[in-house]
Amino acid sequence: MHFTINGRNVEAAFDPRTSLLDLLRDHLGLPGTKKGCNQGACGACTVLVEGERINACLALAVQYQGREIVTIEGLADENGLHPLQEAFIVHDGFQCGYCTPGQICSAIGMATEIGRGVPSVVTEDLAAGTIALSHDEVRERMSGNLCRCGAHNGIVEAVTALYAEDAR
Ligand code: FES
Ligand code: FES
Repeated sequence: MHFTINGRNVEAAFDPRTSLLDLLRDHLGLPGTKKGCNQGACGACTVLVEGERINACLALAVQYQGREIVTIEGLADENGLHPLQEAFIVHDGFQCGYCTPGQICSAIGMATEIGRGVPSVVTEDLAAGTIALSHDEVRERMSGNLCRCGAHNGIVEAVTALYAEDAR
């Protein structure tokens, strides 16, 4: 089966019951995406598929053949870390770091959703045409990503610092 992962073409043969998370970690040697709950409740396994954030533990890998998948390993490039990775460092957005790859992938997907004008349940003015990226918006939109060691304030600061000016 054929995949595009972090810009590379990948061929893999595996049991069709394999989750995308297990394919990444166990078959392709990409352990950056973490397995927390393995049942869709923690967000540690969040990856981007054509810019949309998904929980890789709930996805069968076979469903994603031919799609553009990006994991935490694909965000840095020859110029250095992704700006959100830098922001996490500057704003103390991680402690143990187990949730961090999922948080970062999720926030990148979230920024795309904001750019498309997709409201959340805490968006106050649905007719405004622009969505202010307040701390409450970030908390609500990132609520599917749990951090068990208390780095949430730093995570919110990092996401807000990078994306608030771009929010529409
Ligand atoms: S490991 Fe996928 S949501 Fe927790
Ligand atoms: S930094 Fe997220 S669980 Fe510790």
